[in-house]
Amino acid sequence: MPRETPKNLWRSRWGFLLAATGSAVGLGNIWKFPYITGEYGGGAFVLMYLACILAIGIPVMMTEIAIGRRGRGSPIDAIGRVVRENGGNPLWRAVGGMAMLAGFMILCFYVVVAGWAFAYTWKMLDGSLAASSVEALGGVFEAHNANPWQLGGWSVLVALLTLCIVGKGVQAGVERSLRWMMPGLAVMLLALVGYAFTSGSFKAGFDFLFHFDASKITGEALLAALGHAFFTLSLASGAILTYGSYIPDDQSITRTTFMVVLCDTCVALLAGLAIFPIIFANGMSPSAGPGLIFMSLPLAFQQMPFGTVFGVLFFAMVSVAALSSAISMVEASVAYLNEKHGISRLKAAAASGVVLLLISLLAMLSFNLLAGWTPLGKNVFDWLDFLTSRWMMPLGGIFMVLLAGYALRSEIMRDELGLPPLGYALWLFMVRYVSPVLILMVFLHALGWLGFDPVQRWYWIAGAIGALAVLGEVLRPRIVQVLAER
Ligand code: PHE
Repeated sequence: MPRETPKNLWRSRWGFLLAATGSAVGLGNIWKFPYITGEYGGGAFVLMYLACILAIGIPVMMTEIAIGRRGRGSPIDAIGRVVRENGGNPLWRAVGGMAMLAGFMILCFYVVVAGWAFAYTWKMLDGSLAASSVEALGGVFEAHNANPWQLGGWSVLVALLTLCIVGKGVQAGVERSLRWMMPGLAVMLLALVGYAFTSGSFKAGFDFLFHFDASKITGEALLAALGHAFFTLSLASGAILTYGSYIPDDQSITRTTFMVVLCDTCVALLAGLAIFPIIFANGMSPSAGPGLIFMSLPLAFQQMPFGTVFGVLFFAMVSVAALSSAISMVEASVAYLNEKHGISRLKAAAASGVVLLLISLLAMLSFNLLAGWTPLGKNVFDWLDFLTSRWMMPLGGIFMVLLAGYALRSEIMRDELGLPPLGYALWLFMVRYVSPVLILMVFLHALGWLGFDPVQRWYWIAGAIGALAVLGEVLRPRIVQVLAER
């Protein structure tokens, strides 16, 4: 069957790398990773996180890019075409639909958090963060959120910027803007790490992040590491798959995936090395949640030489990272509307924007006018976060690996991935046996149905992977033949 002709392609070989790194590097790296690393035991958590990235993140990302490139289109259409080529059930397109929906829903609350970063860049400049205690800064944060016009205004600004960039097109909008955003992000990050190195308690920060304490390897931490691996690599959200559909045929998916993952991991580690020395130098505690960067850091910056300059630089960096991720969340929907209904990208972005504003308005109002409205115990902001990260991403991830590992004929993925036999066998093993079991475990844990500590009972998991592998071999003896076909 002839391959799909791409409607859009990245202009340069760097296009995909810039875009996928831009998508992956975001609030997840700069805010969440440092904090959960500290909470779950520093070096021990970093190790588990790296293991999850290797065992699941890399194979799943390769799968998404390969399906995107093979099907050349938005997640629904790309999966539809690949399945059609394979002669399979068109229902698999629902996996693409769910991924797109997840990306869109993440965007609905992400614009609020990104709006905080934009607002704080400004507040750092105009001196409204000149408070003398963490409590006072907590008050500033609360006051910002209590005012729907302020909170909403900044979030709408982020949404508009995102939609304008995506509306302009893959090359003229997304690729062109990322060409200056990503190097800018790297320069700002390095400047901040340098600043932390010279002005902060670098050693305390370093030890906090990399001190290995084996007793901290727990099931809970492993599950957090696994969940974070998904979120930070933008998997099962339509972002990577759609970006993958613009990759030229001759670019290596494996090499590109490794580079994106390496950049994402380095940024997370460097962000930790920039943030914690500054927190520790000021005798603050690495407290949880939004408080860490929005309440403690502005105070810490004030107490240090050139603090305002570096404070502005820090929040500008968070803003750029958040914007480059936000772009990727809406790209799938815009690509879908553009392709399926022939609407121009600009109009598709405008249409997405209307829906985005309606839903994200509810997320913004969760902090003020609708603060008391908590259907089934959560406000809209928390619901969006909960539904996407606990349900939709793990589910989408499982279906994605089942599609690639079981439903598709092996030559489709083998063609796309272009791996040597051993590499291909390893990818297949990960996608068929390791990823489904591990992702299922996170999923069941999120539901509270796991009922045991996966680290203490690691042999159960190893057993499940082994059993699945044996069963897979028995049920599909072709796998051996397939591997030998080459
Ligand atoms: N990876 C982004 C981050 O770390 C979040 C994201 C999730 C982006 C899903 C796109 C899709 O912040």
